[in-house]
Amino acid sequence: MTAAARFEGGPDSAGGTVESHRVTTVSTLVVPAGGLGTRFLPATKALPKEMVPVGDRPAIQWGLEEAVASGIRRAVVVTAPGKDLIRAHFAPDPVLEEILERRGSPELARRVRAITELCDLEFVEQAEPLGLGHAVLCARDRLEGEAAAAVLLPDDLFDGSPPLLAQLVEAHTWEGCTVLALRRCPQETISRYGVAAVTGEGPVFTVTDVVEKPTPEEAPSDLAIMGRYVLTAEVFEALGSVTPGAGGEIQLTDAIGAVARAGRVVGVEFVGRLLDVGTLDSWLATNAAIVWQDPELGPALRERIRELEQGG
Ligand code: G1P
Repeated sequence: MTAAARFEGGPDSAGGTVESHRVTTVSTLVVPAGGLGTRFLPATKALPKEMVPVGDRPAIQWGLEEAVASGIRRAVVVTAPGKDLIRAHFAPDPVLEEILERRGSPELARRVRAITELCDLEFVEQAEPLGLGHAVLCARDRLEGEAAAAVLLPDDLFDGSPPLLAQLVEAHTWEGCTVLALRRCPQETISRYGVAAVTGEGPVFTVTDVVEKPTPEEAPSDLAIMGRYVLTAEVFEALGSVTPGAGGEIQLTDAIGAVARAGRVVGVEFVGRLLDVGTLDSWLATNAAIVWQDPELGPALRERIRELEQGG
């Protein structure tokens, strides 16, 4: 059964646009953005890795746009000391807007303003880099009264339709539990990820356990957890009592594992592709992929590549 078939009869059965897609049961997104960006140094020494440009906008903006296209209207960004540029990017800048208007660029002024109006944005600070689980836990106070929240790791851009978070929210409306994004992964790279033990036929699997960064021999399947989640309040509760795991960090995977072993996690083998921007080589490839599809910039890029191939 395809993911689309599994969702048939659900809120998307009209097959409409992203806007018509949503009966939203998840209204808040948590974006962990406190990491040090060590995989992309020295570029990310002062520049937060979430702010590296991909096409014409920073990586984190792509993530927030995916959430908004998935019907989510509020985001809590968990940053770290010294990462003020993220906040600055989403803050209103009436002086810049006024200059752009005056110089005859109203469309650019509108786009600059639209960034600040994307969604309701809040920031919390993770004082120390104690791991992904700890970062997510830092947002807990902002989720009072919410049965579930979405989580998006901005290192990965989603390219496809419907948006990946929308696919997870959809599964959550059906299953009413925690939802993970799963992708089949070759043996050589499986140890970079959390890996799910599953039952069922897919594309929506019952997750029975999760293992963080296993060796290929230890991996319970080839289904790796990708950077999108819908987490119920139960996972946040479990996070509160997780002790430091792999790498001395508080692992989100450990809290999800506790809930999975109780039978309340599903995983969606999603439709579409993820584009990594967390390292120099992946960022270059992702920029090429994004620009390649752009009607204005794509032809110029292809022409330049042709020139380079001919030594120019
Ligand atoms: C994190 C999670 C891991 C997940 C991965 C997806 O790892 O801990 O379970 O598979 O994101 O990108 P990180 O990439 O932060 O080491």
